[in-house]
Formats: sequence, C-alpha cells, structure tokens
Amino acid sequence: MSLVSRDKKHIWHPLNQHQTHPNSLPIVKAKGIYLYDEKGNKYIDGISSWYTAVYGHCNPTITDAVKKQMDQLDQIVFAGFTHEPAVELSERLVEILPKNQKKVFFSDNGSTAVEVGIKIALQYWSNIGINKTKIIGFNEGFHGDTFGAMAASGESVYNKPFKPLMVSATKILPPRKNNIEYVLEHLEKLTKANDIAALVYEPLVQGAAGMKMHDEEALEQVLSFCRKKDVLLVADEVMTGFGKTGTYFASDWMQTKPDIICMSKALSAGLLPLAATSSTQDIYDAFLSDKNEKSFFHAHTYSANPLACVAAIEGVKLLTSSYIQDQIKMIEECNRAFLEALKNVDKVTNLRQKGVILAFDIKTKNNHVYGTLRDTLFNYFMNKGLYLRPLGNTLYIVPPYVITKVELKHVHQTLLEGIKSLSIDE
Ligand SMILES: Cc1ncc(COP(=O)(O)O)c(C=O)c1O
Repeated sequence: MSLVSRDKKHIWHPLNQHQTHPNSLPIVKAKGIYLYDEKGNKYIDGISSWYTAVYGHCNPTITDAVKKQMDQLDQIVFAGFTHEPAVELSERLVEILPKNQKKVFFSDNGSTAVEVGIKIALQYWSNIGINKTKIIGFNEGFHGDTFGAMAASGESVYNKPFKPLMVSATKILPPRKNNIEYVLEHLEKLTKANDIAALVYEPLVQGAAGMKMHDEEALEQVLSFCRKKDVLLVADEVMTGFGKTGTYFASDWMQTKPDIICMSKALSAGLLPLAATSSTQDIYDAFLSDKNEKSFFHAHTYSANPLACVAAIEGVKLLTSSYIQDQIKMIEECNRAFLEALKNVDKVTNLRQKGVILAFDIKTKNNHVYGTLRDTLFNYFMNKGLYLRPLGNTLYIVPPYVITKVELKHVHQTLLEGIKSLSIDE
C-alpha cells in the first residue's frame, strides 16, 4: 500500500479539510533549503518549514550536537532537576534578548509559549494583590491554538467555534499611521477601569494574518501608552524571533521593550519541539514567596528537553555568527530589489518587507484564505519546485538564511513568472 493510502487510513492532519483535500504529499528527505518527495522531486522550502528550519534542514552542525547529546542525557523531569543544555541555552538567550529579559521558562510549542506568557501576566497581578484580569490583543493577531492564545487572537477560522468558551479579551485595531489616534482613544477607554493585565501582540509582523506589517511608530505609541497604564506587554515572537525581521528579535526595533517574550519555531532550528517564555526580574520576583501557591504551577513533560536545548544552543550560535548575519543582510537587500521590480507588475499590491520576510497580495475580487486561488497558487509553485503556503491572495517568503543569492534570485524569478502567468478570475 502506498504511503498516501496508509496515511489516509489513520491520520488526521492539521488545518486540513480531508473531504476536499484527502491526499498529503509524502516527503522523504530534507537537506539545506530543499525538501524531497518520494518521486525524487525537490522543492525549495520558501517558508523555512513554518519559519523553523532557518539554518537549513539537517544542518550537520546541529544534528551532530544533538546526536552527541543523545548518548549523554535524553530526557529529564525539569521540575526539580536541571541540566547543562538548559542552563547554557538560558544564558545564551538572555545575552541576545532585550536587556530587560532575565528569566526563561521552557515549554514545547509556540501556542504554549504564549499561553505561559498570558498566565504569567495574569498571575503576576494576582500575586501582588492587584485585580487585573483582562487581556487586549490586535484584530487579525494569531497567537496559537490553546485557549488563552486563541482568546488573544483576532477572530478567525481558528478560534470562531470556541468563542463562547474563551477568556475575556478585547481586540483593538493593529496600529497604523492613519488610525493611531483612534486606536489610542480606544485604549484610553479600555484602560479607564485599570483592569487590563496585558497586551498580547506580534511585534511588527502579523504572520498568520498574511505577513501584515505594523507601522513601527504607531506600534511604539501603543506600547508606550500601555506601559504608562501599567498594562504588561507580552510580545509573541514565535514567528518574528531569531532574525526574521533583520534583528535578533522584532522587539529590538522598538524603544518600549516587552515585559514578557514568547519564543518557539526557529528557537530550536527546526529540529525538535521547544518553546521559551522570558520575563523581567520584576515579574519573576512577584512569584517568590513563602507561600507555595504563589509559584507558577505550570509544567510540560518535555519542558527543556535536553536534545531540543542542544539544537537551540547550536541555533543561537549560528544566528549570532557573522556568516548568518551577513546572509540575513543579503536576503534583505535582494528582497528589497525584488520588491522594487514588483512595483511595475500590475497584478500585485501591498508590497511589504521586513528583514527576510517578503510579502505581497495578488489583486483579486475576494481573498478567501482557503479559496481556490490559494490552491491554484500553491499547486503552481509546487509544480515549479517552490514550496509556499499562500494565505488567500497573499504570497510571502521566509527563506532559510542559508539560501544563496543565486537560489534566492531563482525564487524571485519563479514568483514573478507565476504572477505574470496567472489568470485570476476570483
Ligand atoms: C505568532 C505566532 N504565535 C504562536 C504560534 C503558535 O505556534 P505553534 O504552532 O508552535 O503552537 C504561531 C504559529 O504559527 C505564530 O505564528
């Protein structure tokens, strides 16, 4: 029986309508920027496998370190025990995080990193005896699939069926030059009762919304307003972290630094599941007490798994190397030049770029995220050997940092030819 047939027998895939899309493509190998299917076709991984494998798939520097760790310490309960990889990783993270971040709480996926961030923020206020129980998020924000993360996200297909069950979270418009006064007035009203615990936000780029980019100055105004009103800032850097926006973290672009930062995806270099939520010393200190109930009662079995921590250490070493930093600059420059060229193409609009992230929209009559245009684009580019996950009429790339200039130009050329050849009637 083929792999596809065996897959269909028992597997339930994420984000998939199995009635209309019953087949999943078997991938047998990944190396560097390429994915290989069972027929031997190869595809450039244009989105670094959901923004994780930024140093290239099966990077030997990382796999060798993990293989070595496998013979030393595979897994250990992180409540009550510690180990070298977790300690070294925490040191390396604190070194590259915004300077106010001092403590690192480990978990194992992006949603959970955010869930932990929200829970720490809520319990912080409870621990210091202040009644703040509400959350603010941005329309179109996406923070994951657990209940707190869903609540902080803008309404979408991801969270709509669960709306009646979610914690109270008010959404505000993502700040832009043309709406910032309205957004600040809205925030003024929301913070009147002094009961907002935290703002949860994706700094600068809303990934799942289709790589929508905030206006930097407007976001700064929102963050500094919240800081003045004692609203904790929970930055979801699950997608933006580890170099995507050109700096180590998107928060590095902002003057007002977050109180809490949520990380995952590229944290462990696409190798093993890992997440981390960092906080300031002040927040951590609010959990210190002679009363046990003031501790943070949250744990995951695989928190700080030693193998995943080793992958992350190697990832951070690569990120901070001059090779990867130069690569990020090269990608940024090449993308910028490509966006300039795209300005002359009639079929595209909303060209945008930050760091290695490049996105634009195809002009259409509607923009259904899971409509036929999305499938047309996906299939077209797969046939051309380029793996992308279009969001409705939005095309974007987040290439692995190890891509060469020639390969990146090939990606750009493929995009250009694809757009030009498309007949769009949606
Ligand atoms: C900004 C952001 N936060 C959280 C998540 C959830 O991460 P995970 O899929 O690892 O739970 C995602 C996933 O795409 C994300 O982009």
